[in-house]
Amino acid sequence: MRSHTLAVLPGDGVGPEVTEAALTVLDAAQERFGFSTARTEVPLGAEHYLRTGELLTEQMVAELRTHDAILFGAIGSPDVTPGVLERGIILALRGAMRQAINLRPVRLYPGVPTPIAGLTPERCDLVIVRENTEGAYVAQGSTVHRGTTSRVAVQESINTWFAVERAVDFAYRLAAQRRGRLTLCHKTNVLVEAGALWVDVMKAVGERYPDVETDYVHVDAMCMHLPVSPERFDVVVTDNLFGDIVTDLGAVLQGGLGVAASGNLHLDGQAPSMFEPIHGSAPDIAGRGWANPAGACLSLALMLGHLGEGEAAAAVESATAGVLAGMPALAGEGMGASTRELGERIAGSVREGGAPVVENSLMSQLARVMSA
Ligand code: NAI
Ligand code: MG
Repeated sequence: MRSHTLAVLPGDGVGPEVTEAALTVLDAAQERFGFSTARTEVPLGAEHYLRTGELLTEQMVAELRTHDAILFGAIGSPDVTPGVLERGIILALRGAMRQAINLRPVRLYPGVPTPIAGLTPERCDLVIVRENTEGAYVAQGSTVHRGTTSRVAVQESINTWFAVERAVDFAYRLAAQRRGRLTLCHKTNVLVEAGALWVDVMKAVGERYPDVETDYVHVDAMCMHLPVSPERFDVVVTDNLFGDIVTDLGAVLQGGLGVAASGNLHLDGQAPSMFEPIHGSAPDIAGRGWANPAGACLSLALMLGHLGEGEAAAAVESATAGVLAGMPALAGEGMGASTRELGERIAGSVREGGAPVVENSLMSQLARVMSA
């Protein structure tokens, strides 16, 4: 039987609630598709930090490295200074595991309310590939004349051919499995040095993918096109900072925090990739069963695709979309069922099989990219 080792980091607040729901769905997928997972739960997050003073330790990194994938809930607490956990755990994990890409599907599923008037599911199915290791987020920056009003701050952006090529190549491979269209999103007219490097990498890598059509959009224009005409995009590749911003806009289109999923992909086969809903620990609703588990379940589907379990991945995506379509509201009491009940419903639908709610599953495209 195929088997995968899985590190589970439920975290804080609603993190453990949505992770429990996702694991119920994983149990159902394993039964139906005949594979197994060996799971290790790792206590990381605000609660663990407040109790032990421990963030991500060397020992945890070594332990996590031995796994095939990491399923992450969410971390954070009002009792911890902002930035401590983000840097000490989330960014530290992405760095330690050399997770080259942040993958963010932007798909509006049928029946899911979107704030964009007139937007229909057929028009909204794209993927944003965000370079995850450099740009403005890697350089330390510097300040001179600190503590005075003569202070000068420098915050540079690092762009290496190596990392940009790795992200762009992955984006081409994904586009080749989809509708064959790749858009570079940047600001080449102002950030001319970094922009030229990205454009040259796009051209050089593009020679290996003659069937993929390419396009370019400035990041500011992207913020207009994305909500108005998302059908223009299939795969979008962009740098770390622009990606951080446009992916949140993308999440709005598809129904927001409860629905959006992400993967941090390691592409060299030496460390695990990590999959997480984009929302945080939501302390305002924690403990009430009011968190939507869809984002966590769709992240699980991405994980299954990444592990090569394409059929299971597509089934989990479809089951989640099916349950989402029947929800009277996407969050809170109005969901009509608790986080746990929704997880069980999605699991039930995975077990039953039935007609796919979703065609052209990104999750199974991902499985094909990873196995190629
Ligand atoms: P948040 O994402 O936790 O919550 C924002 C709003 O969305 C809240 O009203 C919350 O109730 C709602 N919400 C979040 N997830 C939901 C779900 N699954 N279903 C329904 N509603 C949901 O962001 P916030 O409040 O800014 O941050 C809370 C804590 O989470 C902070 O400590 C922050 O640092 C941390 N955080 C952690 C992240 C991570 O672990 N990757 C990402 C974002 C924030
Ligand atoms: Mg962000």
